[in-house]
Amino acid sequence: MPHSATITPARRLRGRLRVPGDKSIAHRYALLAALAEGRSTLAHFAPGADCQSTLACLRTLGVEIEDTAPGTVTVLGRGFGQLRSPAAPLDAGNSGTTMRLMAGVLAGHRFTSTMIGDASLSKRPMRRVIAPLERMGARVEAVDGHAPLTIHGSALRAIAHEPETPSAQVKSAVLLAGLHADGETTVREPAATRDHTERALTAFGASVSIDGLTVGVRGGQRLAGRPLTVPGDFSSAAFWLVAAAAQPGSRIEVEDVGLNPTRIALLDVLRRFGAYVSVSITATDAGEPRGSVTVEGNRVGTVDIEPSDVPALIDELPAIAALAAHGGHVTVRGASELRVKESDRIAALVAGLRALGLEADERPDGFSIAGPSNNARPSGGVADARGDHRMAMAFAVAALAAEDPSTIEGADAVAISYPGFFDTLSQLVSAAYEPGTR
Ligand code: S3P
Repeated sequence: MPHSATITPARRLRGRLRVPGDKSIAHRYALLAALAEGRSTLAHFAPGADCQSTLACLRTLGVEIEDTAPGTVTVLGRGFGQLRSPAAPLDAGNSGTTMRLMAGVLAGHRFTSTMIGDASLSKRPMRRVIAPLERMGARVEAVDGHAPLTIHGSALRAIAHEPETPSAQVKSAVLLAGLHADGETTVREPAATRDHTERALTAFGASVSIDGLTVGVRGGQRLAGRPLTVPGDFSSAAFWLVAAAAQPGSRIEVEDVGLNPTRIALLDVLRRFGAYVSVSITATDAGEPRGSVTVEGNRVGTVDIEPSDVPALIDELPAIAALAAHGGHVTVRGASELRVKESDRIAALVAGLRALGLEADERPDGFSIAGPSNNARPSGGVADARGDHRMAMAFAVAALAAEDPSTIEGADAVAISYPGFFDTLSQLVSAAYEPGTR
């Protein structure tokens, strides 16, 4: 049963915090650890339901995974090509990354497996992975290009793939299949997407070739298990960074967060909006830089996101939309991919922000949101997250600006990537109003 949350308006947020482990990186570490030889201890593993779906699928494929300590999982690798034929369907839940990356791995295992997902995932496009995996030699049955997927794994041949749409999930699915193929598989992307798979493969001992937008991996490479620590999820931190940028007098510092250059384009957007942003890289583990980010709200401005900006901001666009609730104006173009995320994020954002009292226009490939002018505030209202974690968090940040308390329907969706989001929100609001803080 979906739960709702009440958001009390707050004019500022303050605090220093850590966010849960990065979802994208945790999926990849778990998958590669399962294919590796030996043990991998994965600390600060992402606690959300999506990465738990990846672990559950791996267990069904015969991988032993121990919860060694709070937040740490130990994966006992089965070795290359050694996943076991599953006795039951593999349930990816709400997680597109689980389904698409796992499909790449399963394509190279000579057994038949079925992947299922929840109602949202069963509507998301899978032809983008089915087509290259079939070219490599697997056979994939789907329902009109959607899950359930029945994957008949096989000996694979290398391909050179050129996806039409930039997608790290598609790139990763093909590279993971390529690891099981004969020869060198390459993916040439139309625009750069997050490169965690490339960095993680290298960290597990594989060699990966990178030439501009083309990435290649040779089949048959052995991976070695190792200890790893997942950095904080920049896409979760994004909601706090936006909330701080949107409200002069706010100051948020997020520590130990992933600062992979393919993920942090939001920081420039916040600078353009008018916020003070500072970044400090404190370490690089397994090729992934991490450190702290501080954002202080200063003034509200205008944000125009162009089509070429979209791949580097794809998961941050809901948070960026919420900026407008605090004043200013946000326009996004060239983001039709948002329509095939956990919800149709263009429709959901426009409907939810209108319900909170903002002016929002829906376009086929984006939206335009006008903030209140002359220090006015949006009314607040009831916004429906439509089962989408990032909608719930974006509406919560927008609702802080409102005149009256708001309700977020389906707020429990935050558990997909950020269990504890609402508790943290309360702490950051209280910290801003403690005596002695301005
Ligand atoms: C992800 C890639 C992105 C992103 C998703 C996670 C990943 O999707 O939206 O939340 O972990 O590779 P696409 O690659 O399909 O754009």
